Amino acid sequence: MATGYPEDLRDLVEASLAELRFSPAPRTAGLEEAMRYSLLAGGKRVRPVLALATARALGAPPERFLPVAAAIELIHTYSLIHDDLPAMDDDDLRRGKPTSHKRFGEDVAILAGDGLFAEAVRTFCEQPGDPARVLAALRELAAATGVDGMVGGQYIDVLGEKLDAAGLRELHALKTGRLISASVCVVPILEGTDESETIIYRRFADELGVLFQIVDDILDVTESDERLGKPHGSDERHGKTTYVSLFGLERARELAAESHAKAGSALAEASGDTEDLRRVADYIFTRHE
Ligand code: IPE
Ligand code: IPE
Ligand code: MG
Ligand code: MG
Ligand code: MG
Repeated sequence: MATGYPEDLRDLVEASLAELRFSPAPRTAGLEEAMRYSLLAGGKRVRPVLALATARALGAPPERFLPVAAAIELIHTYSLIHDDLPAMDDDDLRRGKPTSHKRFGEDVAILAGDGLFAEAVRTFCEQPGDPARVLAALRELAAATGVDGMVGGQYIDVLGEKLDAAGLRELHALKTGRLISASVCVVPILEGTDESETIIYRRFADELGVLFQIVDDILDVTESDERLGKPHGSDERHGKTTYVSLFGLERARELAAESHAKAGSALAEASGDTEDLRRVADYIFTRHE
């Protein structure tokens, strides 16, 4: 197994996020403060790092894809702020700090999420490249965020209906998988990569996305608040169907291992230098945070 997260890519992401400013107007400074509070609280940056690692695999300079990478992290951060709201998971801790609504109030937290989504679209539109490809990539990201993606998955999650194995996999594919998958897939779209090669990346990324949420379900049970930077046991408190509640911890771990192996064998078919992508996949499987 490849070890080590691609820290150089994470550093690139961190620096470009820190530079982002949304408005010089003093009267909305508090909104911008709330947006940057959640954004710069130190997430793992898995999604933007995946985008940059995919660029590297395709032989393109990762730096060129920073607008897209930042846009993806803005959308992810918005999803976390809204996921933590009292009407949703009602959690008080995120990225090791009080959640946005605890710190700024629910009204401002909702707007901080809305603002991050809109600023993500603006940031994405600053991506250099053939405009038709930028538009196609933006469509991919918006679709992964929308009803047939993260928001649709969150809707199924809040409905709280009992799910069987197939239903649970679908939930994970939507609420988490699609955005992780788009983090990889926007890059071959921007590069105009051959369809046959793009399909390989998509297979890898779809599996990786589901793996990510299986591991998230496991860590919710096995890790501490300190380690996670968010409250453990949140799923059980809300009676959520998860890989652990449905299959038990041991079987959930086996299913994670199967999913990791499937992602790895898809990646082995790609022709580029996929070392960094493999490192991220291994990190997602073995992480404790
Ligand atoms: C948490 O995502 C929400 C899920 C989709 C499971 P991450 O585990 O990537 O959270 P950060 O970005 O590192 O805080
Ligand atoms: C949320 O899943 C996925 C999102 C789209 C934000 P969870 O509710 O399990 O995420 P955490 O555990 O709070 O990060
Ligand atoms: Mg949730
Ligand atoms: Mg949650
Ligand atoms: Mg969770």
